[in-house]
Parts: sequence; C-alpha cells; structure tokens
Amino acid sequence: MNFRTVEIAPSILAADFASLGDAIRSVEQGGARMLHVDVMDGHFVPNISIGVPVVASLRKATRLTLDVHLMIENPERYVEAFAEAGADMISVHQEATAHLDRVLHWIRELGREAGAVINPATPAAALSEVLDKVDYVLVMSVNPGFGGQSFIPGAVTKIQQLKDLRARYNHGFRIEVDGGIGPSNTAQVVRAGAEILVAGTSVFHTPDPCAAVKSLYQIADGAFAQRV
Ligand code: DX5
Ligand code: ZN
Repeated sequence: MNFRTVEIAPSILAADFASLGDAIRSVEQGGARMLHVDVMDGHFVPNISIGVPVVASLRKATRLTLDVHLMIENPERYVEAFAEAGADMISVHQEATAHLDRVLHWIRELGREAGAVINPATPAAALSEVLDKVDYVLVMSVNPGFGGQSFIPGAVTKIQQLKDLRARYNHGFRIEVDGGIGPSNTAQVVRAGAEILVAGTSVFHTPDPCAAVKSLYQIADGAFAQRV
C-alpha cells in the first residue's frame, strides 16, 4: 500500500490551554491538516489532560481533522462520546482494553477512523490479529503521559516492522508515531514508514509554531520522496 502524503499532527498538549484558538490558527497557517488531541485519565497514564467537552469546542473552532488519542482504561466506554463530540480519528491502546477487536469495530461503526496504539514495551506483533481492522497504527516513541520526553529509538524498528507487515499482507493502515518528534528524527521515522507525525514540544514550545510546522513538513516531504 502506497500513501501519497505525510501529515504533521501538532499535539495541543504542548499548547497554552488558555489560548487554544490561537494555537490552532498558527498551525493551520503552517499547513497542518490534522490536530492531535491527547486524552488522559490519570489511571492508564499518570496524568490527566482533557476530555469530551474540549473536543466539542475544538470541533467548533476548526475544520482540521481531529485525531483523538485515548490514553484511558476501558476506552470502549467513551468512544461514542468522543465520536459525537467531533473526533474524526479515534485511537485506543492495545494495553488498555481486553476487547481491542470490539472497540475498533465500534469506532468504525460510528463512522470514524479507528487506530490501535502500542506502548514502547509492546511488540508490533501484539496487533497481528487486528491489522486488517484498523485505519492506522500509532507507535508510541515515548512512554505515554507527558509531552517533552526524549524519543525512544526502538520505535524506528517497530515502524519498519509494521511497514513490512503492511506490504506483505497488503493492509491499508497508515502508520503514526508519537513522542519526541522534531527536526532531528523526522526524516528517519518517515523513511522507516511513518505517514503521520505527532509533534507537540517541537511545534508549540518554539517562538513561531507556524514556521515550525512548515519546516517539519519540508523535512518530512523530502524524506517521503526518497522512501522505497
Ligand atoms: C504523550 C502524548 C503525546 C505528546 C507528544 O503521552 O501522547 O502526543 O503530546 O509530545 P512531544 O511531541 O512533546 O513529545
Ligand atoms: Zn498522543
């Protein structure tokens, strides 16, 4: 399966929550087509972030694709609420549910793109039985819960493995990578097989988020063109 574009998905976790509208405008101007939204419950991960009402407000504020990353236990209890709030893409952790197949099916039934996420300690093979049922696979390149952490290099091998599995079995999922992504590792993850790059700190903790998105696109597009 070949994809024509690579996407930068700015993560609003790193933005100023008192000025989310400004943050959205700046990344829209930088050419972003997706916004990554991190939902944390204080149980699955040791942090609490945002929930359904914020997604509903974001939906009113932008036409960007809302990529909602659920870092919550038993995500099956909440996928309908996030879909109704306006999420376009909903991803759930393999480690957070005993019913991964069922919840992925529900997300698709709700008319949203379904994503399966794996933590750094979870092998790509843990998703083998659902790879034909997902629209995207999200490879965590940090342990989830916080922005601003360092990229874990083992994610690159995992992205390559997923790219190989996709080719071997002719699957259609996109590969997303999340955590510690910036100018220094963007080309590497794109060459390995990633098509969606989440970037929080490297976009919003800069003086000019618009320029930061543009420059990540430039690096990513260059690497994508070289990809075999
Ligand atoms: C981490 C979140 C990430 C986070 C990435 O648990 O899933 O989406 O916002 O932030 P950076 O890009 O700062 O590592
Ligand atoms: Zn995330």
